[in-house]
Amino acid sequence: MVDRLNFIVLLLAISPVLASQPLAPSPVEAPLRDLTWGQINFLHTTDTHGWHAGHLQEPSYSADWGDYISFSTRMREKAEANGQDLLVIDTGDRIEGNGLYDASDPKGEYTFDIIKQQHIDLICTGNHELYKRNSSENEFNINVPNFGSSYLASNLDIMHPETGEQIPLAPRFKKFTTRKQGIRIMAFGFIYDFTGNENNTVIQPVEDTVKETWFQEAIWDREVDLFLVIGHVPVRSPEFLELYQAIRKVQWDTPIQFFGGHTHIRDYKKYDAKSFALESGRFMETIGFQSIDGLSTSTKTVQTSAAPKFSRTYIDNNMFSFHHHTQLNATTFPTEHGQNVSKEIRAAREHLQLDTTYGCAEQNLWMFRAEYPSNSSIFTWLEQRVLPDIVVDKNRMNKSRLAMVNTGGIRFDIFKGPFTRDSAYIVSPFTSGFRYVKDVPYDKASKLLTILNNNGQVLQNMEPSLQSWMLAPIEQRSFSTHVFTQNVTVPHNEDLQRPLLSEPDLTPGYTTKDDAGSDGDDTLHTPIASYRVPNVIQSQIDPPLQSGDPETIDVVYIDFIQPWVLLAFQFLDLDYSIDDTAIYMEGENLTTLLAKWVTANWKDNC
Ligand SMILES: *[C@@H]1O[C@H](CO)[C@@H](O)[C@H](O)[C@H]1NC(C)=O
Ligand SMILES: *[C@@H]1O[C@H](CO)[C@@H](O)[C@H](O)[C@H]1NC(C)=O
Ligand SMILES: *[C@@H]1O[C@H](CO)[C@@H](O)[C@H](O)[C@H]1NC(C)=O
Ligand SMILES: *[C@@H]1O[C@H](CO)[C@@H](O)[C@H](O)[C@H]1NC(C)=O
Ligand SMILES: *[C@@H]1O[C@H](CO)[C@@H](O)[C@H](O)[C@H]1NC(C)=O
Ligand SMILES: *[C@@H]1O[C@H](CO)[C@@H](O)[C@H](O)[C@H]1NC(C)=O
Ligand SMILES: *[C@@H]1O[C@H](CO)[C@@H](O)[C@H](O)[C@H]1NC(C)=O
Ligand SMILES: *[C@@H]1O[C@H](CO)[C@@H](O)[C@H](O)[C@H]1NC(C)=O
Repeated sequence: MVDRLNFIVLLLAISPVLASQPLAPSPVEAPLRDLTWGQINFLHTTDTHGWHAGHLQEPSYSADWGDYISFSTRMREKAEANGQDLLVIDTGDRIEGNGLYDASDPKGEYTFDIIKQQHIDLICTGNHELYKRNSSENEFNINVPNFGSSYLASNLDIMHPETGEQIPLAPRFKKFTTRKQGIRIMAFGFIYDFTGNENNTVIQPVEDTVKETWFQEAIWDREVDLFLVIGHVPVRSPEFLELYQAIRKVQWDTPIQFFGGHTHIRDYKKYDAKSFALESGRFMETIGFQSIDGLSTSTKTVQTSAAPKFSRTYIDNNMFSFHHHTQLNATTFPTEHGQNVSKEIRAAREHLQLDTTYGCAEQNLWMFRAEYPSNSSIFTWLEQRVLPDIVVDKNRMNKSRLAMVNTGGIRFDIFKGPFTRDSAYIVSPFTSGFRYVKDVPYDKASKLLTILNNNGQVLQNMEPSLQSWMLAPIEQRSFSTHVFTQNVTVPHNEDLQRPLLSEPDLTPGYTTKDDAGSDGDDTLHTPIASYRVPNVIQSQIDPPLQSGDPETIDVVYIDFIQPWVLLAFQFLDLDYSIDDTAIYMEGENLTTLLAKWVTANWKDNC
């Protein structure tokens, strides 16, 4: 404890630390832990999902991609001044989840050029880039050329957009030597064994890739000081374990550093004393920092008995942290390039009118921070207030209906204050509309929700590819593994708080526990509780004047969950197929409907 406190620096000096987006809130000053630098240092982003403008309603994450460009530049300058190296990594899911990407037509009109401005040393693809033909072709046509040999695709092919020929999306691996230290690195870029991709891409399961000749040759290379495996892969996953074991089988003690993603959490896994994996959260909330010290280099061999030192820090994405870690201030920190990119983001947001306000929320509505059901739960709000108003088809309005939405279709909280065009995309970024099956016997339809929510046992046994936990938000998957042990999570961390009671109040935020302990977050925060949510929520909507339950009812659902709904019908001995389904509310999706609801109901709160 005493040791740890030595690293805590209280920053009390008040200096202007404005982030570059005009509406971005200033970060709140907070006690920070210092970084431990090494021979080689890394900055890591993952699952940014279009949040390149930063968070305009949360001071802790208010820096934008331009600020991050200044940060990585200053960090590299600092490293190189000390003869050390710094590499920048991104592990995919750069798209879908924020107006900056989703609100343009075509989608992503502005984001490719913005992302390209960052000097990224290693980059790979996430599952979101592969759901639609167009987005994977955009990777191939735009991002791969933009990043050249830094873009890796170890287990991912694409059908060439013109010739149809199956080819690697990008190079399979990269061997290079770092500039300052001369560390010889063998790098790979993976995606987990994802199967929901459009058929113009092909993902090879990791267990097959490790048997490929090119992979075996690469890992047999003895002239390697560090294996670097980046991937859109959770750090606690069978895929990373397979890669770890494959490399360890032939290189018993060469250090291995993994950078992962996909589950939207901060996490750090130790495989052995020389192998660690870092996952750096989501949505531009976190810049992951990793350092390694004590590696062999092309000119200096370190005894194998000496384990290198690995250190990780989860940096809150705000200017206060950026200034602290670079030891610079508002005058000396920004680079012209970073400021130009912030301007570019600002211009894109203006073109897309993302600040257009539909209405104002009277209170915060949480996905996980409030218990479900409760009046602070975004899902209770949807169920009780929104769905009954929006799920109305002019041709079926006199018919009772059950409206179902999967909780994973909602991606973010709603904050008290303006609900903008951007908010609509942030809360509901998917293009999903509604579909329905008409006149379903009520006694059976009323059992659907239980089946969809019983943790998948029923459906999973019928069809292994349709597990019902897939319907819940991705963050919840890690709740059951190690970060969260029960539905009420993140216990009060007294260790961290007691010595600081006399210090300025801490703000709520990440208080991560991982394989290296509980000192990983750069900013000291008070913990935030997290509650479990069901896979699917439902509203029964009856026409006026109806009394009692109807005999038959329309089952209306967000189209993403159709395979699960049809399977659940099958379990109930109802023989419906896709031919029995039809569009409900032509031309609308959850995003447009939410925007209309807010306009009609929250306009007066502003
Ligand atoms: C696909 O993306 C390209 C490049 O951004 C764009 O020109 C095209 O209109 C998009 N097509 C669709 C169907 O969105
Ligand atoms: C891929 O899917 C499209 C429909 O999205 C279909 O028309 C095409 O035949 C499929 N191609 C292959 C090779 O299966
Ligand atoms: C920033 O740091 C520089 C150099 O240390 C100093 O001259 C300047 O006054 C500082 N500016 C602010 C706004 O604190
Ligand atoms: C920043 O933008 C200005 C004005 O467009 C341009 O002259 C300058 O070269 C840019 N600087 C960098 C480093 O990109
Ligand atoms: C929500 O608030 C309403 C009235 O404000 C109350 O009647 C209801 O019981 C509350 N629901 C929950 C789940 O707390
Ligand atoms: C629904 O009922 C109302 C009132 O009885 C009627 O005016 C309207 O035409 C009905 N709509 C449909 C689609 O049947
Ligand atoms: C929902 O539909 C509208 C209108 O068709 C479209 O502009 C919008 O992009 C769609 N929402 C999403 C998240 O794609
Ligand atoms: C949370 O857990 C408690 C006990 O562990 C249980 O009583 C409660 O019903 C759970 N709440 C939810 C929303 O699952």
